[in-house]
Amino acid sequence: MAAVRGAKGQSRTAPVASAPSQRFFRPTWAEVDLQALLLNQRRFRARLGRGTKVMFVVKGDAYGHGAVPLARWTQEQKGADWLGVSSVEEGVALREAGVRLPILVLGSLYPFETFLAGVQYQLTPTVASLEGVQRLAEVARRVGRPVRCHLKLDTGMGRIGMGWPSGLAVAKSVVATDGVEFEGVYTHLSCAESDPEFTRMQLKRFKAALSDMARAGIRVRLRHAANSAAALGCPASRFDLVRPGLALYGLFGKGFTPVLTLKTRLVYLKTVQAGTPIGYGASFRTRRRSRIATLPIGYADGMPRLLSNRGRVLVHGQECPIVGMISMDMTMIDVTDVPAARVGDEGVLIGASGRSRVGFEDWAAWSKTIPYETATRLGPRVPRVYLQ
Ligand SMILES: Cc1ncc(COP(=O)(O)O)c(C=O)c1O
Repeated sequence: MAAVRGAKGQSRTAPVASAPSQRFFRPTWAEVDLQALLLNQRRFRARLGRGTKVMFVVKGDAYGHGAVPLARWTQEQKGADWLGVSSVEEGVALREAGVRLPILVLGSLYPFETFLAGVQYQLTPTVASLEGVQRLAEVARRVGRPVRCHLKLDTGMGRIGMGWPSGLAVAKSVVATDGVEFEGVYTHLSCAESDPEFTRMQLKRFKAALSDMARAGIRVRLRHAANSAAALGCPASRFDLVRPGLALYGLFGKGFTPVLTLKTRLVYLKTVQAGTPIGYGASFRTRRRSRIATLPIGYADGMPRLLSNRGRVLVHGQECPIVGMISMDMTMIDVTDVPAARVGDEGVLIGASGRSRVGFEDWAAWSKTIPYETATRLGPRVPRVYLQ
């Protein structure tokens, strides 16, 4: 239990961190609400047609939320059918933690030696070349059993994936190669949130590829293309399976509950005169007699430094401006307008307090990036506390 002594000697306690977080003393922590995750997973499913499978994308340590606890919880609660990771390492970590759900490795095509480790851990690899298929066949021979794979097609993302019709040769080789089983074919949409026309073009290419494959007698059980935005906004993109990340973490606008709350406590409070410089570079000077609180969190924890003199932290349900430059381990906020604020009081950096809310989306807007980045940047130094 992390105890913080307030200004008047009263002791306040931060919640105990549950596995895999360490016991912590610095009063800065993230609460991850597993019920909110499950609620999002159920709401998401309710928006899909019957029979569409869901792959919960837990790459990037589950967008900073902690892949192992979220994957275990998802397995326990049947919140998704599949998990998606970006590398063999991420998949192995889940397997070693007892996760048995099917796991697709969405990236990690090179070096091909990674196929062996992936297959030994029952991970499903992505293939996107003839060589990949051949190397997977060697792995199948080595492990003495057939190996399933998903073929990745590039329909407009320009990242990994075979173009078409050249991809047809790879699809045929998967079918023709002993030991390699064709379980899925997929693509990724690059503008699902921003450009419906581009998305339609990508889907048209994907469908054309699927028709060519069908004409060639190639049957594939799982065809998939959609991330959160596409699955929710474009039913034609759903096929047999969808791959949401953002929406399940509650980072996709209304209708989903944010899963992570980032909290800290006011550890120092001072009253300063008008004209007092605050922080490195004296980038802020108080314009009035002010109460300035220091928070024990900084850019080493993943707070974007661009929130300096721009972002807000919630104290007693009120928005308090971040003043001065955020330093590595500390951030100052102006609590002049919150007279009740005391040392030891909670500051909500991400989450709700009273009627106010700050989200990773706000951090992203303030620092001119995207919520994927602000969420995944939340550092390992911040203990995650899992609430059921
Ligand atoms: C291949 C792939 N599928 C699905 C997703 C999930 O996307 P989102 O978080 O927007 O739902 C990602 C995320 O970047 C991805 O790379």
